[in-house]
Amino acid sequence: MIEKLNGLVADFTVFYQKLRHYHWNVKGKEFFKLHEKFEEIYTEVGDQIDEIAERIVGLEGTPLHTLGHMLENTALNEDPDLPGGAEMVARTVADIESLSARLQDAIQAAEEADDRPTVNLLDGIHDGLQAHLWMLKAWQG
Ligand SMILES: [Fe+2]
Repeated sequence: MIEKLNGLVADFTVFYQKLRHYHWNVKGKEFFKLHEKFEEIYTEVGDQIDEIAERIVGLEGTPLHTLGHMLENTALNEDPDLPGGAEMVARTVADIESLSARLQDAIQAAEEADDRPTVNLLDGIHDGLQAHLWMLKAWQG
């Protein structure tokens, strides 16, 4: 369970940094909307990283705490590019879909271990991400 949760810490940390990158570097007519939306999502993700890490501590594990270990354990890719706004949204949608799959896998493991606090935590995070997913898809048209 701790290993799965640390995988999520790694994924969410990389995702957080990508959203900060998009918030800083988005350009064009959609600037105001996307600049704000990326900030809204990374603010939530920052809180979620904290909650997952503290759950790991609650389970008597050690959360990942170096960027090197985050990169070794993430299923996401960093984004060194400067894509346009629409492409930033497309990459965010793809990342949310990947995070969602990894969350569902961890939720299933927590259910099998009868670990209710972890199930509840991850369910809430999953629901929050799904809300962003449909809104970003609606933006794409
Ligand atoms: Fe800002």
